[in-house]
Amino acid sequence: MTLNVSPLTLGTSGLGRNSLRGSAEETAAVHIAVDLLSSEHTFVDTSNSYAGGRSESVIGRALRQVGEESRYRVISKVDCDPETGAFGRDRVLRSFDETKAKLGVDRLPLLHFHDPYSVSFEEAVGRRGALEALIELRESGQVDAIGIAAGPVPMIERYLQTQVFDAVLCHNRYTLVDQSAASMFAAAKEQGLTVFNAAPFGSGLLAKGPGSQYHYAPASEELQAWVAKAIDVCAEHEVTLPAVALHFSLRNANIDSTIVGVVSPGRLQQLNDLHAEVVPDEVWGAIAALGSAPAAIDDSQYR
Ligand SMILES: NC(=O)c1ccc[n+]([C@@H]2O[C@H](COP(=O)([O-])OP(=O)(O)OC[C@H]3O[C@@H](n4cnc5c(N)ncnc54)[C@H](OP(=O)(O)O)[C@@H]3O)[C@@H](O)[C@H]2O)c1
Repeated sequence: MTLNVSPLTLGTSGLGRNSLRGSAEETAAVHIAVDLLSSEHTFVDTSNSYAGGRSESVIGRALRQVGEESRYRVISKVDCDPETGAFGRDRVLRSFDETKAKLGVDRLPLLHFHDPYSVSFEEAVGRRGALEALIELRESGQVDAIGIAAGPVPMIERYLQTQVFDAVLCHNRYTLVDQSAASMFAAAKEQGLTVFNAAPFGSGLLAKGPGSQYHYAPASEELQAWVAKAIDVCAEHEVTLPAVALHFSLRNANIDSTIVGVVSPGRLQQLNDLHAEVVPDEVWGAIAALGSAPAAIDDSQYR
């Protein structure tokens, strides 16, 4: 089943983090979620575990404000038991129940199997494993589609071989500095899956520049130096690094939707502005001329 996605999907992994129920911080987060759900972008991406569960709660409150028409604009993910790491059939069904309760919906357009690091592939695909529950949820019509959402490309490729998924999400592996997901995305697209590329800014570095994190960890000196050179190239062509980083993902025909984290005030408008920027074609050659960026992520343990 192919999803009708827009080029941008709005990411909410930090939405409502540390906000208490009824606090001013929660109200501010709900305002942001209302804006996201009222935007021209089709889907908001969340998960049961984002921001300690607060992302879905905040989105649920926003959904009650914006009304019926946005009910099916939220994509979520099932997560392992936060205490035991259990991630079998029963946990998947429980996680989905928790998500429905927080969001206040009875159905989702897409539910991902999220970061399955606490179980082996064999456990996940075996009897009473996670995949059994995901397929059940799709067959019963409680979700329209199921996906695999994770980081390491070799792990995702293994799950895609099962041919049960409708969608794939990979993060931080198709950016200006790391293209290790490129061939996996091409193969997934070829198989008719909906392809999501998450974190085009590498979680910060490619939007904020040197001194920021890549893939949720400090960037090496070498990587920061490469990014500083990329900023100079962008300036020579009168574009900004975040615009180039975003359009690098948007221009790949194998990617159906790029997921960007927009959880701070003003970020949605900035994202729309970056989306509207025209990046001159010469920029791509000039960035390529910098040579490959120093490795930012080591996925060798998954090969
Ligand atoms: N395993 C998974 O399924 C998985 C993993 C990772 C991500 N995702 C999804 O993908 C989404 C995006 O990932 P992400 O948020 O980690 O990474 P990202 O979108 O690459 O980067 C977000 C970071 O960039 C900054 N930023 C955004 N717009 C900016 C702008 N216009 N100017 C300057 N800085 C800007 C944000 O800063 P502020 O915080 O200051 O706003 C934030 O630190 C997540 O929210 C989640 O929905 C899924």
